[in-house]
Amino acid sequence: MSDAIDPPMLTGFGNHHATQAVAGALPVGRNSPQHVSFGLYAEQLSATAFTAPRHENRRSWLYRIRPSAMHPPFMPYDGQALLGNLAFEAGAPTPNRLRWNPLPLPVEPADFIDGLVTYAGNGDVAAGVGCSIHLYAANRSMVDRAFFSADGEWLIVPQQGRLRIVTEMGVMIVAPLQIALIPRGVRFRVDLLDEAARGYACENHGALLRLPDLGPIGSNGLANVRDFEAPVAAYEDSDRPCELVQKYQGRLWSTMPGHSPFDVVAWHGNITPYRYDLTRFNVMGTVSYDHPDPSIFTVLTSPSNTAGTANLDFVIFPPRWMVAENTFRPPWFHRNIMSEFMGLITGEYDAKAGGFAPGGASLHNMMSAHGPDVASHDRAVAATLTPHKIEDTMAFMFESRLPFTPTRWAMETPLLQGDYDACWTGFAKAQLP
Ligand SMILES: [Fe+2]
Repeated sequence: MSDAIDPPMLTGFGNHHATQAVAGALPVGRNSPQHVSFGLYAEQLSATAFTAPRHENRRSWLYRIRPSAMHPPFMPYDGQALLGNLAFEAGAPTPNRLRWNPLPLPVEPADFIDGLVTYAGNGDVAAGVGCSIHLYAANRSMVDRAFFSADGEWLIVPQQGRLRIVTEMGVMIVAPLQIALIPRGVRFRVDLLDEAARGYACENHGALLRLPDLGPIGSNGLANVRDFEAPVAAYEDSDRPCELVQKYQGRLWSTMPGHSPFDVVAWHGNITPYRYDLTRFNVMGTVSYDHPDPSIFTVLTSPSNTAGTANLDFVIFPPRWMVAENTFRPPWFHRNIMSEFMGLITGEYDAKAGGFAPGGASLHNMMSAHGPDVASHDRAVAATLTPHKIEDTMAFMFESRLPFTPTRWAMETPLLQGDYDACWTGFAKAQLP
């Protein structure tokens, strides 16, 4: 265990921030002056094409001790290789409903990189479509190592153990019930602040995650812009060699720069790492009867080319009041065009009486029939419908327009529950007159 001082943060999502760790490091009036203060090097990091429309254009300027171009060639990474992508790691597509027991914490030493395992994916990394879903379980900090993905932005959802995420653009402490967003290409290192850490990561190969439109909800609610936090500039001035591991087209590569890649002294721009506290989500729901579709719980969305049909939605199920009258209150039985990968951070999910544990996962692909298990159903039908608060819970969903294909590992691991279908057996037959 270690205590950690929460560094100051900049607030807002997609805002243009400017921050410097040393006074005078940030150029004024020019992005790339002939002489940057202290001999720093100016570098632009683009998350969208140069020509993306202004309201979607995301880029930042970094001012660093050495250019990030200064490294030897990347070689194939010779560490563990459970992190990958659909094209390389796929099992066979399956229409079956799948559920996994929690990923065990490692016995052997494993940092964040070596503790990652890919469960499922969809789309095409090279085409910039779809996403990959990984879980991590680690028991040591990354030491003299840095990681980045050229394949997409990373949405990290800790389930156990606080992370101190050192990025090129500053430091974020992220605990369970918070999430972190690391832009494509941004180098980061994960330090553990507790004995072990476990959680989920969704790597988004498509359009950048953004806040959903609110429509009739209005200008406030769900995840509020002001609650997203970007780090302030912080740098390491270290000449100790640091292994730099990158994920590129589904495979890991490694090189060894002779210095720390975390050497950005100042930066400005609107593509940054973020942190968000899920407990600040302003939950909306019914105050009469029925309940809205779970899209009402969307935190972030990556749109596709089809309006309203997401490449990826990040959806949470937080504590909330249930007040609907004459209503079956748990999630109803459903078959969806969208495919759903679920995880659980803490507590219980209100559609399942057991079997779905924190650190576990489930997959309900396109058109697979699912919903409450028998116990949850029978309890809900018999319940007296007084106002009731669901407390101490936080489940979430990575939802996509594209079906997920599980990896071979995910299909072969003993964590896969062989009897998941049994939770939908034994429903009483309806009695017609
Ligand atoms: Fe579902």
